[in-house]
Amino acid sequence: MRRDMGHLVYLAIVLSLAIALISMALIWQAPDTKEPSMAEQTDYALPPPTMASDVPLQAVLRGRRTVRAFAPRPIALTDVAQLLWAAQGITSDRGLRTAPSAGALYPLELHLVAGEVEGLPAGSYRYSPRHHRLRLEVPGDLRAAVAATALQQDWLAQAPALVVAGAVEARTMVKYGERGIRYVHMEVGHASQNLLLQAVASGLGGATVGAFNDARLKHLLKLPKAELPLLILAVGHPR
Ligand SMILES: Cc1cc2nc3c(=O)[nH]c(=O)nc-3n(C[C@H](O)[C@H](O)[C@H](O)COP(=O)(O)O)c2cc1C
Repeated sequence: MRRDMGHLVYLAIVLSLAIALISMALIWQAPDTKEPSMAEQTDYALPPPTMASDVPLQAVLRGRRTVRAFAPRPIALTDVAQLLWAAQGITSDRGLRTAPSAGALYPLELHLVAGEVEGLPAGSYRYSPRHHRLRLEVPGDLRAAVAATALQQDWLAQAPALVVAGAVEARTMVKYGERGIRYVHMEVGHASQNLLLQAVASGLGGATVGAFNDARLKHLLKLPKAELPLLILAVGHPR
């Protein structure tokens, strides 16, 4: 009798283990159909850029002016995508971009500090030119904190979006040594002018800001050790 009970207990343990193993296998095999929630999502595909405009280049050049006052209106994700593409988008099969780069070494990195961008939670995102996507790096509205790093230029916090252009100087210095630093600084000018001109063509306005505390901005945006912030660009609807 005791022996039979022992067998039964043994059988029950084996059966439970088998059921547990089968359930775990089924869970692992089940396709993950759950869409990531807004809180979990970190990777965002951007709308493809438009390659046409009714606005003549000369009108755009003539219309560019530093804008430091913005209407309290969000900026569309299509506009943000177009601006980032104008600054650093890929325009050739070989990976060449909208802005020239010494030795095609591409030291620049763009960070979108989104405050009021339609369809995008507030946060700091890194732009991938190759994939035309954004990757969330620091969640939350960082605009006021960015303004505080920029010697309290509080108007920056009123822009719906900021673009921080950073650079990994080593990418260019590998080939050009110390002179590479000069090239990197020229490149950020090329890229930011592209963005500012695109802003005008899109009916937006923008400003370039060079006055900020490098270490504080780098810390705020969690930039890697090798990357330096070079310029802040504010964009939005002119007030
Ligand atoms: C490298 C650089 C840094 C600048 N930094 C600032 C800045 O920190 N704050 C600001 O309000 N404007 C800044 N500006 C914008 C200039 O003040 C502005 O371009 C100048 O007054 C000429 O006006 P415009 O851009 O409307 O033609 C900067 C411009 C450049 C090119």
